[in-house]
Amino acid sequence: MIPFFIAAIDTVMFNLRHNGIHSFSLCGSLTREYSKLLCHGMDEHHRQMICKPHQGSAILSNEWDQYAANWDVDPSVEEYSKQSYAELLNNVNIDGLRVLDFGCGTGSLTQLLSPRVRQIVAIDPSPEMIKFVEKKALENVSTVSDYLSETLIQRHPDFGLKFDLIVASSVCSFLPNYESTLTLLKSLLTPDGVWVQWDWLSTDETSEMGLTQRRVENAFQQVGFANTKISTPFKMTSSKGEMPVLMAIGKHQ
Ligand SMILES: C[S@@+](CC[C@H](N)C(=O)[O-])C[C@H]1O[C@@H](n2cnc3c(N)ncnc32)[C@H](O)[C@@H]1O
Repeated sequence: MIPFFIAAIDTVMFNLRHNGIHSFSLCGSLTREYSKLLCHGMDEHHRQMICKPHQGSAILSNEWDQYAANWDVDPSVEEYSKQSYAELLNNVNIDGLRVLDFGCGTGSLTQLLSPRVRQIVAIDPSPEMIKFVEKKALENVSTVSDYLSETLIQRHPDFGLKFDLIVASSVCSFLPNYESTLTLLKSLLTPDGVWVQWDWLSTDETSEMGLTQRRVENAFQQVGFANTKISTPFKMTSSKGEMPVLMAIGKHQ
């Protein structure tokens, strides 16, 4: 059986490739290639909603909402989070840090981080995913159900202070523009702050599943991260075979 975690990601990719604009017009999880296509070929109203879903438009529904209820019961979600967390501990001393969990989903990584860090802001555009983070009732965690944007950063009190650590577990390959989002995220780091992302490793630039090492390297260079480390520390197994996970670490300066 294909684990739910992997099947859900496949389904999101399929929907993005085959559905009409209306079925995901408020969804931010567009693949790079598809969002480019859409953003150039549509009227201004839809272009605004898809390319800049956070600018003034309410989140009415989200492609990821439908997966929220089954997310935590999938053992592969737990395994992915545990492996990511273990690798994080191998690379970063997380004790007492102020953390942003970007694209937190139901908060499986947030839950692991919570006992050791000072504070976590868990952000995700899927209101249903965020409901499950809130059910965990972690006392040092606050949630934001929205897309990250300049406007949100200026207006939301949780973004008044910078973050020592920003993590993104299986999120970056779903961003409409990974590179510009990375620039925005870097601006939220303290001078010593660290960015860590995990994504399915892709070996094909044209693939819609995961990110290639080269794309991540180029993005890190473009954004200006220092002391970067890009590796493939673990693999997940499914009926599709072994799926390597890319982990990329960059320091603010
Ligand atoms: C594969 S899930 C990973 C969830 C969680 N990080 C985990 O490891 O279980 C991808 C998550 O990215 C979120 N997401 C999609 N588009 C996003 C965007 N533009 N900005 C931030 N998060 C996004 C989705 O709502 C979803 O919760």
